[in-house]
Amino acid sequence: MTNIIDSLREDHANLAKLLDALERQLGLFDEGETPDYDIVRGVVDYCLDYPDLYHHPKEDLVLEHLKAADPVAAAAIGDLAAEHQALAALTRRFADAIDAILQDIQVPRGPFADTARRFLEAYREHMNKEEREFLPAARRALGAADWAEIDARLSQPEDPLFGAPTEAHFAALRQDVLYWAQEARAQEAR
Ligand SMILES: [Fe+2]
Repeated sequence: MTNIIDSLREDHANLAKLLDALERQLGLFDEGETPDYDIVRGVVDYCLDYPDLYHHPKEDLVLEHLKAADPVAAAAIGDLAAEHQALAALTRRFADAIDAILQDIQVPRGPFADTARRFLEAYREHMNKEEREFLPAARRALGAADWAEIDARLSQPEDPLFGAPTEAHFAALRQDVLYWAQEARAQEAR
Protein backbone atom coordinates (compact mmCIF):
# COMPACT_ATOMS: atom_id res chain seq x y z
CA MET A 1 0.00 0.00 0.00
CA THR A 2 3.01 2.25 -0.20
CA ASN A 3 1.62 3.30 -3.59
CA ILE A 4 0.09 6.12 -1.55
CA ILE A 5 3.65 7.31 -0.96
CA ASP A 6 4.37 6.93 -4.66
CA SER A 7 1.35 9.07 -5.51
CA LEU A 8 2.44 11.74 -3.00
CA ARG A 9 5.92 11.74 -4.53
CA GLU A 10 4.43 12.01 -7.99
CA ASP A 11 2.42 15.04 -6.84
CA HIS A 12 5.64 16.57 -5.49
CA ALA A 13 7.45 15.95 -8.77
CA ASN A 14 4.56 17.56 -10.66
CA LEU A 15 4.46 20.52 -8.29
CA ALA A 16 8.22 20.95 -8.65
CA LYS A 17 7.75 21.25 -12.44
CA LEU A 18 5.12 23.94 -11.90
CA LEU A 19 7.38 25.85 -9.51
CA ASP A 20 10.15 25.69 -12.14
CA ALA A 21 7.70 27.07 -14.72
CA LEU A 22 6.81 29.87 -12.33
CA GLU A 23 10.46 30.62 -11.66
CA ARG A 24 11.12 30.99 -15.41
CA GLN A 25 8.28 33.52 -15.63
CA LEU A 26 9.55 35.40 -12.57
CA GLY A 27 12.93 35.61 -14.25
CA LEU A 28 11.24 37.48 -17.14
CA PHE A 29 9.45 39.72 -14.65
CA ASP A 30 12.77 40.52 -12.90
CA GLU A 31 14.24 41.55 -16.25
CA GLY A 32 11.39 44.02 -16.77
CA GLU A 33 9.63 41.84 -19.35
CA THR A 34 6.01 40.74 -19.23
CA PRO A 35 5.61 37.19 -18.04
CA ASP A 36 3.03 34.85 -19.54
CA TYR A 37 0.24 35.35 -17.02
CA ASP A 38 -1.61 32.29 -18.32
CA ILE A 39 1.30 30.25 -17.01
CA VAL A 40 1.68 32.21 -13.76
CA ARG A 41 -2.05 32.12 -13.11
CA GLY A 42 -2.17 28.42 -14.00
CA VAL A 43 0.43 27.55 -11.36
CA VAL A 44 -1.48 29.44 -8.71
CA ASP A 45 -4.90 28.13 -9.77
CA TYR A 46 -3.56 24.60 -9.55
CA CYS A 47 -2.05 25.28 -6.12
CA LEU A 48 -5.28 26.87 -4.89
CA ASP A 49 -7.19 23.68 -5.61
CA TYR A 50 -5.47 20.37 -6.08
CA PRO A 51 -3.00 20.34 -3.15
CA ASP A 52 -5.56 21.51 -0.61
CA LEU A 53 -8.36 19.31 -1.84
CA TYR A 54 -6.43 16.07 -2.37
CA HIS A 55 -2.70 16.15 -1.71
CA HIS A 56 -2.54 17.76 1.72
CA PRO A 57 -5.52 15.84 3.17
CA LYS A 58 -3.76 12.63 2.06
CA GLU A 59 -0.60 13.69 3.88
CA ASP A 60 -2.56 14.76 6.94
CA LEU A 61 -4.06 11.23 7.08
CA VAL A 62 -0.64 9.61 6.73
CA LEU A 63 0.68 11.83 9.53
CA GLU A 64 -2.25 10.86 11.73
CA HIS A 65 -1.24 7.22 11.34
CA LEU A 66 2.43 8.03 11.84
CA LYS A 67 1.60 9.75 15.14
CA ALA A 68 0.05 6.50 16.37
CA ALA A 69 2.72 4.20 14.91
CA ASP A 70 5.83 6.24 15.78
CA PRO A 71 5.05 9.30 17.92
CA VAL A 72 8.73 10.24 18.23
CA ALA A 73 9.25 10.35 14.46
CA ALA A 74 5.96 12.24 14.02
CA ALA A 75 6.94 14.81 16.66
CA ALA A 76 10.31 15.34 14.97
CA ILE A 77 8.54 16.23 11.71
CA GLY A 78 6.44 18.91 13.38
CA ASP A 79 3.07 20.33 12.52
CA LEU A 80 2.55 19.55 8.83
CA ALA A 81 -1.11 20.57 8.94
CA ALA A 82 -0.08 24.05 10.12
CA GLU A 83 2.47 24.21 7.29
CA HIS A 84 -0.25 23.23 4.81
CA GLN A 85 -2.45 26.04 6.15
CA ALA A 86 0.42 28.53 5.93
CA LEU A 87 1.07 27.45 2.32
CA ALA A 88 -2.62 27.89 1.49
CA ALA A 89 -2.51 31.43 2.93
CA LEU A 90 0.63 32.27 0.93
CA THR A 91 -1.02 30.89 -2.21
CA ARG A 92 -4.13 33.05 -1.69
CA ARG A 93 -1.95 36.14 -1.13
CA PHE A 94 -0.04 35.43 -4.34
CA ALA A 95 -3.31 34.81 -6.24
CA ASP A 96 -4.63 38.18 -5.01
CA ALA A 97 -1.45 39.91 -6.20
CA ILE A 98 -1.83 38.32 -9.67
CA ASP A 99 -5.52 39.30 -9.80
CA ALA A 100 -4.56 42.90 -9.04
CA ILE A 101 -2.03 42.91 -11.90
CA LEU A 102 -4.52 41.33 -14.31
CA GLN A 103 -7.15 43.90 -13.34
CA ASP A 104 -4.64 46.63 -14.18
CA ILE A 105 -4.37 47.84 -10.62
CA GLN A 106 -0.96 49.39 -10.05
CA VAL A 107 1.07 46.81 -8.16
CA PRO A 108 4.62 47.78 -7.20
CA ARG A 109 7.05 45.36 -8.86
CA GLY A 110 9.20 44.77 -5.77
CA PRO A 111 6.44 43.61 -3.40
CA PHE A 112 4.88 41.46 -6.14
CA ALA A 113 8.19 39.72 -6.81
CA ASP A 114 8.68 39.25 -3.03
CA THR A 115 5.26 37.63 -2.68
CA ALA A 116 6.00 35.34 -5.61
CA ARG A 117 9.43 34.32 -4.26
CA ARG A 118 8.05 33.68 -0.78
CA PHE A 119 5.42 31.40 -2.27
CA LEU A 120 8.00 29.60 -4.41
CA GLU A 121 10.53 29.11 -1.63
CA ALA A 122 7.99 28.06 1.00
CA TYR A 123 6.55 25.41 -1.32
CA ARG A 124 9.97 24.03 -2.24
CA GLU A 125 11.20 23.98 1.35
CA HIS A 126 8.04 22.26 2.53
CA MET A 127 8.16 19.57 -0.16
CA ASN A 128 11.86 18.94 0.43
CA LYS A 129 11.21 18.40 4.10
CA GLU A 130 8.40 15.97 3.34
CA GLU A 131 10.57 14.04 0.88
CA ARG A 132 13.54 14.00 3.26
CA GLU A 133 11.83 13.30 6.59
CA PHE A 134 8.12 12.65 6.46
CA LEU A 135 7.70 10.13 3.63
CA PRO A 136 10.67 7.94 4.67
CA ALA A 137 9.39 7.90 8.27
CA ALA A 138 5.90 6.91 7.09
CA ARG A 139 7.34 4.20 4.86
CA ARG A 140 9.26 2.77 7.82
CA ALA A 141 6.55 3.00 10.46
CA LEU A 142 3.23 2.27 8.77
CA GLY A 143 1.98 -1.24 8.12
CA ALA A 144 -0.40 -2.78 5.59
CA ALA A 145 -3.43 -2.09 7.83
CA ASP A 146 -2.52 1.62 8.02
CA TRP A 147 -2.22 1.94 4.25
CA ALA A 148 -5.48 0.06 3.68
CA GLU A 149 -7.30 2.35 6.10
CA ILE A 150 -5.82 5.49 4.55
CA ASP A 151 -6.69 4.23 1.09
CA ALA A 152 -10.29 3.56 2.10
CA ARG A 153 -10.69 7.12 3.39
CA LEU A 154 -9.26 8.82 0.31
CA SER A 155 -11.04 10.09 -2.74
CA GLN A 156 -9.09 9.54 -5.96
CA PRO A 157 -9.77 12.49 -8.23
CA GLU A 158 -8.35 13.04 -11.68
CA ASP A 159 -5.51 15.55 -11.61
CA PRO A 160 -6.87 18.59 -13.54
CA LEU A 161 -3.47 19.44 -15.06
CA PHE A 162 -1.33 16.30 -15.21
CA GLY A 163 -4.25 13.91 -15.73
CA ALA A 164 -6.02 13.34 -19.03
CA PRO A 165 -7.65 15.38 -20.33
CA THR A 166 -6.05 18.60 -19.08
CA GLU A 167 -8.62 21.22 -18.15
CA ALA A 168 -8.66 23.95 -20.81
CA HIS A 169 -7.50 26.78 -18.53
CA PHE A 170 -4.31 24.82 -17.79
CA ALA A 171 -3.44 24.30 -21.48
CA ALA A 172 -0.68 26.96 -21.67
CA LEU A 173 0.96 25.73 -18.47
CA ARG A 174 0.78 22.10 -19.51
CA GLN A 175 2.37 22.94 -22.86
CA ASP A 176 5.15 24.89 -21.11
CA VAL A 177 5.87 22.01 -18.72
CA LEU A 178 6.00 19.51 -21.60
CA TYR A 179 8.24 21.78 -23.66
CA TRP A 180 10.79 22.19 -20.85
CA ALA A 181 10.71 18.48 -20.02
CA GLN A 182 11.59 17.80 -23.65
CA GLU A 183 14.35 20.43 -23.52
CA ALA A 184 15.80 18.77 -20.41
CA ARG A 185 15.81 15.37 -22.15
CA ALA A 186 17.48 16.89 -25.22
CA GLN A 187 20.16 18.48 -22.98
CA GLU A 188 20.85 15.12 -21.33
CA ALA A 189 21.19 13.42 -24.70
CA ARG A 190 23.79 15.95 -25.93
FE1 LIG B 1 3.34 17.28 0.14
